[in-house]
Amino acid sequence: MLVEVALFVVLVFLVWQVLKKPANYPPGRWGLPLVGYVPLPGPTFEDHLRNLYKKHGNVYLWRMGTQTMVFVHDYQLLRDAFNRMEFTDRPNWEMFKFNEVAAYGVVSSNGALWHNNRRFSLRQLRDLGMGKSRLVDAVQRQAAWLAGVLAKQAGRPAPVPHALKIAIVNVLWQLVGGREFDVEDPKLKEFEDLTKAVLDSEASLAIQDFLPWLRYLMPTFLFKRLIKQDVLDVTKKGFCEFFYEEMDEHRATLKPGPPRDLIDGYLMEMDNKKDDPDTTCSKKDLAFLLIDLFFAGSETTTSTLTWLFYYLATHPRVQDKLQAEIDLVLPEGQQATLDDKSRLPYTEAVIHETLRKSALVPIGLQHVAEKDTTVGGHFIPKGAVLNGAIFTIHHDTRYWDNPDEFLPERWLNDEGKFVTKKEGFLPFGIGKRQCLGESLARMELLVFTTTLLQRLSFASPQGKTLNLHHDTKNPFVHLPLVQDILVSVRA
Ligand code: HEM
Repeated sequence: MLVEVALFVVLVFLVWQVLKKPANYPPGRWGLPLVGYVPLPGPTFEDHLRNLYKKHGNVYLWRMGTQTMVFVHDYQLLRDAFNRMEFTDRPNWEMFKFNEVAAYGVVSSNGALWHNNRRFSLRQLRDLGMGKSRLVDAVQRQAAWLAGVLAKQAGRPAPVPHALKIAIVNVLWQLVGGREFDVEDPKLKEFEDLTKAVLDSEASLAIQDFLPWLRYLMPTFLFKRLIKQDVLDVTKKGFCEFFYEEMDEHRATLKPGPPRDLIDGYLMEMDNKKDDPDTTCSKKDLAFLLIDLFFAGSETTTSTLTWLFYYLATHPRVQDKLQAEIDLVLPEGQQATLDDKSRLPYTEAVIHETLRKSALVPIGLQHVAEKDTTVGGHFIPKGAVLNGAIFTIHHDTRYWDNPDEFLPERWLNDEGKFVTKKEGFLPFGIGKRQCLGESLARMELLVFTTTLLQRLSFASPQGKTLNLHHDTKNPFVHLPLVQDILVSVRA
């Protein structure tokens, strides 16, 4: 009997040795093999992360399914890590690859393809958005159109109209395809339906990344249904065909000289490199690059502007001050350009405070450790997925006084000049994969804010206060809650 007990104890000890978190890994939640640590229902995802931060400090891990997720809550550690080559890649997730063998485009790709697409897109954004360009004109035109739509709902409590999203999508269309859609255009509706279908199937794809072994436990047809494979295949095909048609139209009218838009630029690059065996250009890659730009550039800017309207509606003093500055600098309905930025310090402060407070992409986009390495003295194993806790950094008293208050004045010095504060501020991420649309987003925020506030004011509906909590249904984006807001036309 004694021998059996001893053997059992040894067995338990051995199993525990195999299952427990390796001693050199960061502290955190390890859980069981294959499923990781599954929390009890109750706190939100972000509350869990806040509690883990309190318990373990700046760097900890949480095994989710088969993925070792590492969270970093310190600005400097994150900046140092995301500037290193070994953290530049995205995880090899189906969710990112859309079930392709390897990711195309720019948001999810790695290696030479990512490098080429990032460099190409940044160059296009710079060339097409410079000075008094068609892109700046498009931003001004869409902002003026939106002001008209909002004016029509004046005096009647109603949600921020869908027209805001259309205006932002149209700016992106101007960038990539040199065109803007009429709101009634059936092609715009087709495009919007495709976008929605991709969003609907994304979450199901994550099942493959976090619980990949499920496919071996169930019949293939059931697994495919679980991950909504059919919806994804149809949507992907629909998107590619939509963009192939656009590429064909561009190809038919392509002329030598400066490209009209990003599609022209890509087709020219593709032609230049047609004999290069290392070229990463292809029609499919361009289609995915376009999908990326629309996904990364539309909901983000639309939601940031919605947050700005909500903050102004709940802080009338800030709104008055903002409008006074805009009226002084941009008289008689004149629209802003980037040249006016230095004369609009309070506007810049309101935009920055909106970006800080809303922390729109709360844990950024994921980066994978390409090899065994360290962060802040903690060992990080190859394959671990690094997440930046932007939402706590933006509210951390190490970087901000009264972080929960909406206080644009924190961005101004004693002379009222705007000061770019970098420490603790990373709405666009940081390092080698920092948002590549940042310059466009900043231009849109400036032009839309000034154009709209010149003509309109925002307020909570009579007897109500706007709810400034975000929608907790989506853990990856701080979406503002859909609710009524009151618009009025300024006298
Ligand atoms: C207020 C608006 C925006 C916010 C808050 C935002 C935020 C972010 C964040 C947090 C990342 C992840 C960085 C990382 O991986 O560490 C990102 C990446 C990216 N963003 Fe934005 N973004 C905005 C607007 C835009 C716009 C307008 C575009 C396109 C024109 C865009 C295109 C991209 C792309 C392509 C990436 C991936 C870059 C890469 O992987 O190399 N974003 N953005």
